[in-house]
Amino acid sequence: MINQSFTLPCGVTVPNRLAKSALSEGIAKPNGNPSTDLFNLYERWGKGGAGILFTGNVMVDKDHLVNANVMIAENEAFLEGFTTLAQKAQANGTHLWMQINHPGRQAPFYLDKAPVSASDVGLPSKVYLKPRPLTEEEILDLIERYGNAALLAKKAGMKGAQIHGAHGYLVSQFLSPLTNLRTDKWGGSLENRARFVLEIYRNMRKKVGLDFPLGIKINSADFQRGAFTEEESMQVIQMLDAEGMDLIEVSGGTYERAAMVGTTQKESTKQREAYFMDFIVKVRQKIKTPLMLTGGFRTRKTIISAIENGELDFVGLGRPFCLFPNVAKELIEGTREECHVPDLLTGVLKIDQTGMLQTPWNMFQLARMGKGLDPDPNMDIWMVYEKITGKTRPEGV
Ligand SMILES: Cc1cc2nc3c(=O)[nH]c(=O)nc-3n(C[C@H](O)[C@H](O)[C@H](O)COP(=O)(O)O)c2cc1C
Repeated sequence: MINQSFTLPCGVTVPNRLAKSALSEGIAKPNGNPSTDLFNLYERWGKGGAGILFTGNVMVDKDHLVNANVMIAENEAFLEGFTTLAQKAQANGTHLWMQINHPGRQAPFYLDKAPVSASDVGLPSKVYLKPRPLTEEEILDLIERYGNAALLAKKAGMKGAQIHGAHGYLVSQFLSPLTNLRTDKWGGSLENRARFVLEIYRNMRKKVGLDFPLGIKINSADFQRGAFTEEESMQVIQMLDAEGMDLIEVSGGTYERAAMVGTTQKESTKQREAYFMDFIVKVRQKIKTPLMLTGGFRTRKTIISAIENGELDFVGLGRPFCLFPNVAKELIEGTREECHVPDLLTGVLKIDQTGMLQTPWNMFQLARMGKGLDPDPNMDIWMVYEKITGKTRPEGV
């Protein structure tokens, strides 16, 4: 059952099977330290019954940020803030894991004037500048930074750390043959493209020891022609399995194909919930590492059956935690049967196809909770559109 505890390979026992997947909050202090608003938010989520709360992605380099007011874990100067965050989140027994990330080419120009990536392949959008390829020395420095961030999470009293290897960020850029055109040992064959993530994991493990939970969030596929495929993802997952990871979370998509929030999913897949379920069922047969699936779960029935059928070990929820902070507790106690969230469609195809309002609308809900307010399910999507684009809404809407 979803309220049953689960012991990870490293020996740590998580209280139940429901997790809040990482949600970038955008309410840290301008210098990347956790703010009072973040403490309030995590205190609230900490009372909400999740087995694990993954932080929103935390940056390893202050010069390369995914969004404004994102958390940074660059050195010991950040320890105090993360220690308080861990105390707030974990006061009621929930485990807090730090999600560790570098945006690579997915860093907006107003935050990153000199983005870096595996190669110089830019996004087809003016919001992101063309990246330059990282040097070998810089790659080694980044591997060190991911390890240091995991160690910082441990020192802060958090219960685990997760590599963000999904959604088209730097680790994902190394994995994909579309964005990794390198001809050195970090590119080319899948073995070479996977070297970056494997070295990150090994370095983290060396720093945190054998008894601290380490995991990854990885794409089942990028869902783009010529990019990281299901077959490749399966092979990388098997490589990670052989390394002794504690938890593999499966998601999918990139900024170019927002599969993670269902934008490119068929209606039948949305109805079935659990966007990447077919893939995880295949993964289950090949590896022993515990599995978590995130994306689309909305009913208690589906969540319970995924766990009871043994298809996976943890169910991750993202957007439901933006509207229903106690969703885990309510699903466990049976006082909530579903956690549907609005589709956030404007009716303007060009906007809706990109899924561009999903993230900011939900981040605004987190900001409300940071201020001690309740989420507002009726928040006007055009208000969000106007705020993030600086444009006025089309006439007549
Ligand atoms: C506001 C917002 C912020 C997100 N930030 C992150 C993040 O920092 N790291 C990450 O791995 N996924 C992030 N995601 C994706 C979610 O973790 C999750 O994979 C996605 O929302 C699908 O799950 P859901 O259908 O339950 O919402 C974010 C999603 C939203 C809506």
